[in-house]
Amino acid sequence: MEKLIVRGGNRLIGTVKTSGAKNAVLPIIAASILGETPSHLDEIPKLEDVRTICGVLKYLGVKIDDSKEHELTLDTSRISAYEAPYELVRTMRASFVVLGPLLARKGHARISQPGGCAIGSRPIDLHLKGFEALGAKISQDHGFVDAYAPNGLKGADIYLDFPSVGATENIMMAACLADGTTTLENPAEEPEIVDLANYLNQMGARVRGAGTDIIRIEGVKHMRGGEHTVIPDRIEAGTYMIATAMTHGDVIIENVLVEHQKPLLAKLREAGVLIEEDIDRIHVACPGELKGIHVKTLPYPGFPTDMQAQIMAMMTICNGRSSVMETVFENRFMHVVELNRMGANIVTSGARGALIEGPAHLTGCEVNATDLRAGAAMILAGLVAEGQTIIGNLHHIDRGYEDIVGKLQALGADIQRINVKE
Ligand code: EPZ
Repeated sequence: MEKLIVRGGNRLIGTVKTSGAKNAVLPIIAASILGETPSHLDEIPKLEDVRTICGVLKYLGVKIDDSKEHELTLDTSRISAYEAPYELVRTMRASFVVLGPLLARKGHARISQPGGCAIGSRPIDLHLKGFEALGAKISQDHGFVDAYAPNGLKGADIYLDFPSVGATENIMMAACLADGTTTLENPAEEPEIVDLANYLNQMGARVRGAGTDIIRIEGVKHMRGGEHTVIPDRIEAGTYMIATAMTHGDVIIENVLVEHQKPLLAKLREAGVLIEEDIDRIHVACPGELKGIHVKTLPYPGFPTDMQAQIMAMMTICNGRSSVMETVFENRFMHVVELNRMGANIVTSGARGALIEGPAHLTGCEVNATDLRAGAAMILAGLVAEGQTIIGNLHHIDRGYEDIVGKLQALGADIQRINVKE
C-alpha cells in the first residue's frame, strides 16, 4: 500500500502549472456521447477519475485514443449499449452525468444509482425531476435508475430547488437533443457549467445563459463531435495558493483564470496573504503572519465548498479565531478529527459549523484521507507540522490532483510517496 511522507518546515518557492479542471472534464467527456462524430479534447488532467469515466464510455462502445498526453480523441459514432454497470459507477459517482447524454442519444439509459460518499448522501432527486420534466419515464429498481424516452425528449421549463452542479449538467445535456426549448431556472453557475456549455455549442447545440441564473437550451436534431480545451482547475490552483500561504512561501501559479478565484483571493488577502494577479497567472507570497478569517461555503460565485477543508487547514495556524460554515454538504468535516490529532484546535457544532483557535503548533502523525479535499488538507497541514506526517488512503487524492507529489517537490516541499507493507 502506498503512503505519503511529508516533513514540515520548508517554504514553497517557485512556479507551478495548474492542470485541466477535474470537475469540467468529467461532464465534458460524458457530453461527447451526444456527438455522432469524434471529439478531440485538450488539457486533460491525468487523474484516476478521468480513467474511470473513460472506462464507462468504452463500456458503452466509445472508442477512445488516449495515446497523447493530456489529450483525448473520443469516437462516439457508435454507442452500442445504454447501461453503465455498478462496478464502474460505484468507483465514481460523477459517472452519473452519463445518464443525460445517453438518454438523449439512445432514448434509453440504465445507470447504477451512484452511492453516497464520505461528505454526504449525494441524492439524485433533482436530476430525476429534470428528466421527468423532459418527458422521460424513470424507474428505480435493483440499484439502477432506468430512464426511458422512446419518442424522444420534449423541451420544458424546469426550476431547480437547489443549484446542483450535477443536475444542471445532466439536464442541460439531455435537453440539447430535446424537441423544443428548455429553460433551466436556478441552475448552478460554476465555471465548469460554462465550460461544458461552450463544448456543447461547439458540437452544434444551442445553449445560452450558462453561468447566469437562467439557462436556455434550444433542442437540435443532431450534434457532431467538437474540439475543446478544458479550463484550468480552480480548486487545484487554490490548493497551491493555500500551501504557499501556510509555508510563508513565494509561488507563481500558472494557467489560472483569475475571475474563477475571486472568493478565495478575497479571503487570502483578508488573512494577510500578498496576491498579485496577472492574465493567466497569480503570484502568491506570505512574508508576514496569517490572521484568522471567517468563511461560509456557498454555490458559485460564493466561497467553494471544495476549498473548505484546505482553508480550514490554513486557519489552524492563523493568529486568532477563525470559523467555517459549510452550507453545501451535510458531512464535510471529516478532516477535523485528523487536523485535531495533529494539534489543531477546532471545535465543531453539528456538521455545518466549526470554530478554529490559532495559531496551533501542529505536529506530524499518521493520518488518513477520508475524501479528496480532506486528503489535500492533510498534505497542507503536513507541510507545516513539526516532524513527519504519514498519509494513507491515497486513492482519494489521486482522483483529483495530477502529480501533487512532483509539483510540491518542485516547489521545495519535503514529500515522498512510498510503498509500505500491508
Ligand atoms: C459537484 O458535485 C462536484 N463534483 C463536487 O466536487 C462539488 O463539491 C459539488 O459539485 C458542489 O460544488 C463534480 O463536479 C464531479 P451538487 P455534485 O449536485 O454535482 C444536493 C470535489 O471535491 N443535491 O451541486 O454531486 C447535494 O446533496 C467534488 O471535486 C440534492 O439534494 O454536487 C448537496 O448537498 C466533491 N439533490 C448539494 O446539492 C440532487 O439531485 C450540492 O450537490 C443533487 C444534489
